[in-house]
Amino acid sequence: MNRITYDELRNLWLEFFKSKGHTQIPSASVLPENDATVLFTTAGMQPLVPYLLGEKHPGGKRITNIQKCIRTNDIAEVGDHCHCTFFEMMGNWSLGDYFKKEMIAWSFEFLTQKLGFKKEQLAVTCFAGNANTPKDEEAAAAWREQGLTDAQIFFTEKDNWWGLADGGPCGPDSEMFIDSGKPACGPNCSPSCNCGKYTEVWNDVFMQYLKTKDGSLKPLAQKNVDTGMGLERTLAFLNGEGDVFMTELFDDCRKKLEEVSGKAYADNLVPFRKILDHLRTAVFILGDDRGIPPSNTDQGYVLRRLLRIAIRNLKKLEVNAFVLPQLAECVINKYKPYYPELERNRAFIVAELEKEEQLFNRTLNAGLKEMDKVLARVQGGVIDGQTAFHLYDTFGFPLEFTQEAAAEHNVKVDVDGFNACYEAHQALSRKGAEQKFKGGLADHSEKSAHYHTATHIMHAMLRQMFGDTVAQRGSNITPERMRFDFSFDRKMTPEEVKELENKVNDVIAQKIPVVCEEKTLAEAQAEGAIGLFTNKYDAEKVKVYTIGTVSKEVCGGPHAANTGDLGHFRILKEESSSAGVRRIKAVLE
Ligand code: SER
Repeated sequence: MNRITYDELRNLWLEFFKSKGHTQIPSASVLPENDATVLFTTAGMQPLVPYLLGEKHPGGKRITNIQKCIRTNDIAEVGDHCHCTFFEMMGNWSLGDYFKKEMIAWSFEFLTQKLGFKKEQLAVTCFAGNANTPKDEEAAAAWREQGLTDAQIFFTEKDNWWGLADGGPCGPDSEMFIDSGKPACGPNCSPSCNCGKYTEVWNDVFMQYLKTKDGSLKPLAQKNVDTGMGLERTLAFLNGEGDVFMTELFDDCRKKLEEVSGKAYADNLVPFRKILDHLRTAVFILGDDRGIPPSNTDQGYVLRRLLRIAIRNLKKLEVNAFVLPQLAECVINKYKPYYPELERNRAFIVAELEKEEQLFNRTLNAGLKEMDKVLARVQGGVIDGQTAFHLYDTFGFPLEFTQEAAAEHNVKVDVDGFNACYEAHQALSRKGAEQKFKGGLADHSEKSAHYHTATHIMHAMLRQMFGDTVAQRGSNITPERMRFDFSFDRKMTPEEVKELENKVNDVIAQKIPVVCEEKTLAEAQAEGAIGLFTNKYDAEKVKVYTIGTVSKEVCGGPHAANTGDLGHFRILKEESSSAGVRRIKAVLE
């Protein structure tokens, strides 16, 4: 085994696959674009699905990269030596090119020649077969060809099949493990057991099937290879620590946390690891070019949960000062040479962490007191769903947060009960919102209506500042924020961003009524109404929303009744969306 740095390991991987004819591609965003089925990019293959299904990749048939991934399904496992919610996956792909034999030979070569493992240290698993697909004798034979003995080759069904939860390309896989040399835990000891004898380092997936909506498998037109090696674990393994939080990736942040807490990592493993892991993930969510702030839905809520659990663990270390921004600086500095977006978005990361720490701090102490009371009176070792929901609704305690605190007292939480209360609450607020707005857009909340109006005002102000060539190219509104894409060929200066923000807030302050009229599209255009004139409108009858002399725009609505309803408008980000198109993310608060 060779000791190796983070930088060396990255290069070793990329250079090895480039020497085998692969094109290096950059890491995709951790927030998947155009994919409503997943919140985060969970594997390097995810952004490549269209190409695994047959579309031509501009980089050719052999691709390699190091992908930022987020997997929060085992958030509860974080605290041990190797689980992380964010990790980097070193990957390579054959898009209908080479297959099992070549890939297994390269895997063997990389593990033994580049990483320095001995043949005898390796153990592999192959697909055992089931009613639908045969045992993977081909993969096992390829491993034997490399000199592995039958005692090093194991077969499983469950652990040797890989695909995304929602279907798509999938197939049998072959996982590679390093045998620590410890004695077997029993006669059935295998890489699949968690006794610590084996550590998984790499997975070769042979994607030759498509899992359809009804769950059946169809052979794919092209046979693909998809492999992924966990960078953190490999780095920890090669450097002998075995603990990912002791690698150079966490050194600065871990030391900073020791400094601000006055406590040693070695004596406080679990809280340290949770803080280090969750904060790093938060920095990569906030620091992505598609980054989003903490909120109560989707990715924003995952982010909020991670941060709140980190904040509680800081309290456990008796850190009462607001330290998340300082810790985040360590993460940004470590990773910025590889992920320059973290530097670009530094101000946003720091500002959002500061805000969330302050916001949660307002309810945290009262909530923790309430939690103590709940734990003191808990019946049968279970916190009921209503109580867990009350902690969420009143004190902002995410379910996992309550579960974590409860688990420390050997108490469980009624998750189904919590979900039932949560859904009942959601249904109630939906009903309230639906009564307010009949018809119009898919999302009927009052907040979304406010964002629509803010979009019109901002669009008009942009044209006032930069002229009529600025035009809307897209918009996406949720009850938490607005995103607006417009044609403009350069970055706005910070002063211009501020000016735009001020102009929008001026219009809000003027409390101008928003008037809606129905016209034909021709009439609207003759009056100078702007808008995205796609064929989604019925030309005989369009709605025109007018805001005094500020804005006149064709739109489906709904809108606020008066600009005065909007609250304070704040721009979070101005960034590039694509060539000649800028993107602004903003909130009303
Ligand atoms: N997609 C496979 C995995 O995540 C290999 O990269 O394990």
